Amino acid sequence: MTEPRTPLVEMRNIRKAFGGVHAVEDVSINLYPGEVVALLGHNGAGKSTLMKMLAGAYPIDSGEVLINGDSAQIRTPVDAQRCGIESIYQTLALADNLDAVANLFLGRELLTRWNTLDDHRMDADARKVFHRLNKNFKNVRTPVRRLSGGQRQVVAISRAIYFNAKILIMDEPTAALGPEETAMVGNLVRQLKAEGVGIFLITHDMPDVFGLSDRLSVMKNGKLVGTYRTTDVAEDEVLGMIIAGKQPEGKAQTHTL
Ligand SMILES: Nc1ncnc2c1ncn2[C@@H]1O[C@H](COP(=O)(O)OP(=O)(O)O)[C@@H](O)[C@H]1O
Ligand SMILES: [Mg+2]
Repeated sequence: MTEPRTPLVEMRNIRKAFGGVHAVEDVSINLYPGEVVALLGHNGAGKSTLMKMLAGAYPIDSGEVLINGDSAQIRTPVDAQRCGIESIYQTLALADNLDAVANLFLGRELLTRWNTLDDHRMDADARKVFHRLNKNFKNVRTPVRRLSGGQRQVVAISRAIYFNAKILIMDEPTAALGPEETAMVGNLVRQLKAEGVGIFLITHDMPDVFGLSDRLSVMKNGKLVGTYRTTDVAEDEVLGMIIAGKQPEGKAQTHTL
């Protein structure tokens, strides 16, 4: 037996309330390097809130987050970025009037040694990372509001790749995309996984769940219903967890790879 690897992320007994609403109640979840964990549940289940706490967008009411086995104090998005955590949301958080290059470096611009913007290097580096994701992506100097959903998603994912995400949160990344663009995002997930990136994938898409994830965690009304190896459960059992909060009979939960 090999020693169990240290998880990239461990979220332990996490709670978050908004006024009287218990958005996340005592949820524990983890993620290993090169692993995709699908996070499932109806709208309002608490998925985004849980991930926003990991991304430093919301403070945690109680509980603990460990990154590579060490307790981490993630209070702001910058804290999360320092831990190698990057997020991609369905409502792509891009600045519509800026072009793809400017969006890639937004808030993290490269500077020359004279502390001026290093436009030359930003342009060259951006083209490299965009083309790695999509060879046909040429209009990198057009305001992103004029780009397709797939091209916008390339920009969002490039932000994660360029800044060396070790932990990627994808919150419904294909919800606004067509079939071809959805397939592209799937390929990217596989590529990042092969590079050892750990990915939390929030999705409602069952083909994505079964095609991409290693484990799945289901939430309902702020609580964790269960975490299972994806190959251990059938689609109707997953739907039973999502809809009725019912754990599948005779199936063991798993918190390791
Ligand atoms: N910023 C907020 N302020 C108040 N309530 C919120 C906020 N964000 C989420 N909630 C509430 O928390 C619960 C969980 O929401 P959310 O995490 O968005 O669920 P999901 O992503 O699973 O659809 C819902 O009841 C939602 O209305
Ligand atoms: Mg959500």
